[in-house]
Amino acid sequence: MPEQYRVRAATDEDGEFIRGLRRRNYMQNAPILRIAGLTADEVVESMEEWTDRSLEGMDELDSIRVTIAETEAGEAIGYLMLLWPAMDDFSQLPQGYIYDIGVTRQHWGMSVGAMLVKDAEDHVREQGGAFIQLNVNAQNGRAVEFYRKNGYLEEWKVLGKCLFGPES
Ligand SMILES: CC(C)(COP(=O)(O)OP(=O)(O)OC[C@H]1O[C@@H](n2cnc3c(N)ncnc32)[C@H](O)[C@@H]1OP(=O)(O)O)[C@@H](O)C(=O)NCCC(=O)NCCS
Repeated sequence: MPEQYRVRAATDEDGEFIRGLRRRNYMQNAPILRIAGLTADEVVESMEEWTDRSLEGMDELDSIRVTIAETEAGEAIGYLMLLWPAMDDFSQLPQGYIYDIGVTRQHWGMSVGAMLVKDAEDHVREQGGAFIQLNVNAQNGRAVEFYRKNGYLEEWKVLGKCLFGPES
């Protein structure tokens, strides 16, 4: 029989699990132009510092909703961080924003990610929101495909250029 998974609200005790899993995924999500010349350890360190800076103070906000996917036995296998309500400055309406998602590698491809995203979408919809946005690293083909499969379409592409080097 296939294993059943469920989604629950995260607690403080899940902090270490989330941090560890996020750390293992940093290489796939780092900005390629700006990590040129850094070692893998330096990339992970820079990504962790950046994440800590952007999350600083968010714990106290009501607008951050962290969920955990777990097995029937209660083993945490994934997380999703949703910002709701986040203001869409284009429509001036509150929207959901998926800050981050991760699933442990041995559970990839088993719809755990889809379940976490659906739960976030249901929450936003129930709260009266009509739109969810997120940023994804353009090099992270798996995540891009995953979001497409879940109905997300590209609206913007964020481009960059290094001003020193062969392309300048
Ligand atoms: C992206 C991620 C959350 C998806 O979680 P998941 O539980 O594996 O997702 P699901 O099982 O719901 O969906 C898998 C889908 O991803 C896509 N996918 C699966 N394997 C793939 C591969 N090798 N290459 C490209 N896309 C692939 C497919 O669209 C697949 O759908 P399908 O099973 O119907 O074919 C997970 O791979 C992950 O944790 N990645 C590392 C963290 C990360 O990059 N997060 C995004 C930062 S915003």
